[in-house]
Amino acid sequence: MKTLIEPFKVKMVESIKQTTEPERNQFLKEAHYNPFLIKAENILIDFLTDSGTGAMSDQQWAAMMQGDESYAGSKSFYRFESTVKEIMGYKHVIPTHQGRAAERILFGVALKKGDMVPNNTHFDTTRANVEYNEAEAVDLVIPEGKIPEKIHPFKGNMDLNKLEEFLAKHHQSVPLGMITITNNSGGGQPVSMENIRETSRIYKKYKIPFYIDCCRFAENAFFIKKREKGYENKSILEISQEMFSYADGCTMSSKKDGMVNIGGFLAMNNDDLALQARNMLILTEGYISYGGLAGRDLDALAVGLKEVMHEDYLQYRIRTAEYMGEKLLEAGINIIQPTGGHAVYIDAKSFYSHLPPTQFPGQVLVCELYKKGGIRGVEIGSLMFGKKDKQTGEEIPAPMELVRLAFPRRVYTQSHFDYAIETIIETYKDRENAQGLKITWEPPFLRHFTAKMAPV
Ligand code: F0G
Repeated sequence: MKTLIEPFKVKMVESIKQTTEPERNQFLKEAHYNPFLIKAENILIDFLTDSGTGAMSDQQWAAMMQGDESYAGSKSFYRFESTVKEIMGYKHVIPTHQGRAAERILFGVALKKGDMVPNNTHFDTTRANVEYNEAEAVDLVIPEGKIPEKIHPFKGNMDLNKLEEFLAKHHQSVPLGMITITNNSGGGQPVSMENIRETSRIYKKYKIPFYIDCCRFAENAFFIKKREKGYENKSILEISQEMFSYADGCTMSSKKDGMVNIGGFLAMNNDDLALQARNMLILTEGYISYGGLAGRDLDALAVGLKEVMHEDYLQYRIRTAEYMGEKLLEAGINIIQPTGGHAVYIDAKSFYSHLPPTQFPGQVLVCELYKKGGIRGVEIGSLMFGKKDKQTGEEIPAPMELVRLAFPRRVYTQSHFDYAIETIIETYKDRENAQGLKITWEPPFLRHFTAKMAPV
């Protein structure tokens, strides 16, 4: 059959509320044109993030009933630990409440002032946690990874020549190296097995421990299976095990490919570092066998990590983004190509070619999609990454003006996606009437979350 169906049926439903365009106009005004400030009950389809927004399976809910809430050494912890060891293969498994807590602990024990950490592209919390330790986060993705319309099967790959050059010069200041799979900040783009292997070889040559930011490891493994020679007959588990075998540890946000609503972990082989990390964990997250989570959360995760590797799920998952991408391209709308694993990224600069970056075309598109159809996405452009000139106070725009529509796992169906596609196309037809935005108030950091805006 040619029709690809959602590989699940629905057992429990959550209503979503229809609102009218005038109501949405009012909500948007009250939220100061920043959809982060709109109440979720007034959103029809929420593509703000794929993080912690997925639906758990009956098996996960059943596992939660077996949660062992013992403070130390719970059965839930051992079930979680053995699953992580089976997939990732590392000796020490340290649970945390989410991904950035794993990052904070790892960098807190491994980095010192003046150090440098290479990566294909640091996710923003990863970068912020490196910088918080007064170290420098260095992005070395291949050049193709920065050109939205450039087609490449593994646009998340590390630029190996640049990495080699960088380490030849700076290896003494690099206490650990990373790679992010899939590369979220570059469009959810995968990294090839060959590139992971070569990245590992270069880090090894300089005796630098290698950590994988593996939030979306199963999506990455699926792309390897589909696009890299020699992997077509391997299982997602085998591919994942091989990816992890090249590294010394990983940081994980379980809110993505852990298929749960909260959780994360840090895993590694180094005994010394693990000891320090566990000491830090006890100080800030919780005891070593729960790390800020309930026993039942660890059980849901132990099941989720296995479910995410089912190929019919991954096929539906990756095809969803591809399908939306195809429909938008047919309508003449530019997106990051090819579509990645968890989201579609629309190029708002060409969508609203009449709006200069100083009028935040990405944020305008986010607002217009909400107004037109009650859809919420997120701006990844000059509101998120723009800076102010220290002398003149003038806005320095970001290199790209993107809108990310990220897809919660197992939540929306084909008709939700068709509705979203129609909304985007209708918004595109109406593009000439869109008005720019200006910032009326902003906080000192990470302004996109809470900034207030108004039409220019
Ligand atoms: N690394 C990557 C690649 C991520 O995408 C995220 C989160 C994190 C680390 C941090 O994990 O949220 O559990 O603390 N990304 C979310 C997103 C927030 O919307 O892309 P966390």
